[in-house]
Order: sequence, then C-alpha cells, then structure tokens
Amino acid sequence: MTAQLIDGNKISADVRAKIKQKVSDRLNNNQSTPGLAVILVGDDPASHVYVGKKVSACEDVGFNSQKIILSETITQEALTSQIQAFNEDPTIHGILVQLPLPAHLDTSVVLETISPDKDVDGFHPYNVGRLAQRIPRLRPCTPYGVMQMLNTIDVSVRGLDSVVVGASNIVGRPMALELLLNGATVTVCHQFTKDLSSHVKNADLLIVGVGIPGLIKGDWIKPGAIVIDIGINRLDNGQLTGDVEFDIAAERASWITPVPGGVGPMTVATLMQNTLMAAELTD
Ligand code: GUN
Repeated sequence: MTAQLIDGNKISADVRAKIKQKVSDRLNNNQSTPGLAVILVGDDPASHVYVGKKVSACEDVGFNSQKIILSETITQEALTSQIQAFNEDPTIHGILVQLPLPAHLDTSVVLETISPDKDVDGFHPYNVGRLAQRIPRLRPCTPYGVMQMLNTIDVSVRGLDSVVVGASNIVGRPMALELLLNGATVTVCHQFTKDLSSHVKNADLLIVGVGIPGLIKGDWIKPGAIVIDIGINRLDNGQLTGDVEFDIAAERASWITPVPGGVGPMTVATLMQNTLMAAELTD
C-alpha cells in the first residue's frame, strides 16, 4: 500500500477531547450542560447501533442525553408532538431523529418540525439553505466531518477536480455544498450517471457514499488522488467494508480513509460539535 491512511479514530478522538474541555469550561462558568435528544422509530438493527454510538459519545464528552424509542406504528402527529416537546425543553439543545423513518411517516414534515436552532443533523431546509448560500450554521454531520478530516492532511480542496458519488440528502448533496463552499470544482454522480468510471478516473478528490460494496473499482482511482469512503456495508461474513475496493485503490491513492475507522467516527464527533454549538446558540 502506498497511500497514507486518514485515521478517523484518531481525528475524532482529538475533536472529542476538545469538546470535553469546553463542557468542563461551561460548567466552571455556570453555563448549562449541552443536552441531546435522540429519537428512534422502530427496530432497525443498524439504526439501533448508530443511536447507541451517539448516546455513548454524549456520555464520553459530558453531555446529557435522552434516548426515546418509539413504536414502528407511531402516527405522524404523535411523533411531531414529541419533537415539539423537545423544541420547548430548555435542557435539550439538540434534537436528532434517526433516519430512515418507516414509510408511513413523512420525513420532510418530521425534519421541518425540529427547531432550526436545535437541528444538530443540519437537515432542516433552513440549515441546508444556509450552507447553500455560504453562511453555514448547523451543518450535516458526515460532510462536515469529511471536511475536517481533509483539513488534518493539510490539502486545500480549492480548484481540485472533486467527484462525489451519491446524491442523498444526508451525504452526497450536502457534501457537494461543502466542497463548493471551499472552492473545489464539483461533479456529483448518481444512479442515472451514464459513465461512472470516466468521472471517477478524473477525480483528484473522490468522495463516495452510496452503500454498495466494491462499487468503485480500485483501478479507476487516479494516481495520487485522495479517496474518502463513506460507505459502511456489512458483508455476509460479518466483515464491514466500504464502497471502494480498498486494497487496489490504496496502491494508487495518496490518501485514503479505511472502513471501519474512517468517516464513521467523525460523523459522531461532528454531531457532538453541533450539539455544543446549539447549546452556545442559546447561551
Ligand atoms: N441515518 C444515516 N445517517 C444518519 C445521520 O447522519 N443522521 C440521522 N438522523 N440519521 C441517519
């Protein structure tokens, strides 16, 4: 392997240590302890794992957290009432509804019920619009975490030919906005893209978040490219793997993120940063 690893475990541990210090400073200044409410609807096993990581990160950095698990069959009205109660609760600074939601619920309505000031996922149209207009406030965690990982390797994205594979509201679209904000030339590929490999082969910076193991062939990677793999896929043998053929890609890239231990821990660390920021907004 010739690429250097971008170590998400280490970078996220540094971010979390800084937050811990700020929480202790807040307590010394008689300011509130940041509080995060996490709402999980139904019993999707992967969502339970993600929510568990978010709650234990809160404990680690000294935040209060409340985890609410609601029935798969909850009505839209009952769910939005729960969110409104958290909107009005002064001890709760951040509210997160784990996605995906069951099909009978309207995700847009649910996300728009969260107060923009408590929207620590950055999914409310107000916060997405702020990012699109270059005045970011609370920003989607995974793309913002990726930008912080890129900052640690001292590579400026300005002018880079960057390719984002995946156009989801959670990852691909806000990722493209973050890159644009930082001056990259941005191409977004998605399920209707005609010739994915031709775009990937041109990428100085490749960011993939689709959820298809091995979608990106290692020999498509431009020599010297930076490769960020946001995919987290569990294979039949139980192993976790990304969307990029890691071993071959790592022979060509200059920098690459592993899976696990890459972007995943940064998403959680960024959620902690956003929750601290939300608490600071109400000080
Ligand atoms: N499901 C997958 N990723 C995320 C995320 O970042 N936030 C929420 N709320 N749900 C998700």
